[in-house]
Amino acid sequence: MKNLSIVLLIMVATSLQADYIKDGQALFEKYKCNMCHKLKDEPLSVAPSLALIRKHYLGNERGLSSFLKGEAKPIVDPKKFAMMKQQLYKTDSLSDKELRALSVYITYEHK
Ligand code: HEC
Repeated sequence: MKNLSIVLLIMVATSLQADYIKDGQALFEKYKCNMCHKLKDEPLSVAPSLALIRKHYLGNERGLSSFLKGEAKPIVDPKKFAMMKQQLYKTDSLSDKELRALSVYITYEHK
């Protein structure tokens, strides 16, 4: 019985995670974040890849949400922040749930 509860809990958590990833990806595309941010590093890309951002923010999705709200300093590539700063108007008034979805999407392991 106890094992069954654990299995159910994991199934619920996994499907919640999948919902966040799906919603986060939709926001990421809607706001054209993917124009600059690719999944992996590419030679000529102007912005850090999601793989690189993930390295800095994995386990700190809250910090990532704060950044997207315009309440925290950049930590990935601060020298280029001027370009990203102009994008924050798209995210700084999103709901906590939307910010969480974006943060989960950005930090999950993209294959
Ligand atoms: C015009 C190109 C461009 C677009 C569009 C863009 N970004 Fe960025 N972004 C950058 C650049 C350049 C950096 C590197 C500077 C930095 O680290 O802040 C960056 C950095 C970031 C970071 C790392 C923050 C940190 O701590 O340094 C996150 C997270 C991020 N972008 C999310 C987004 C999201 C979400 C969107 C869509 C709403 C978006 N970006 C749209 C260019 C862009």
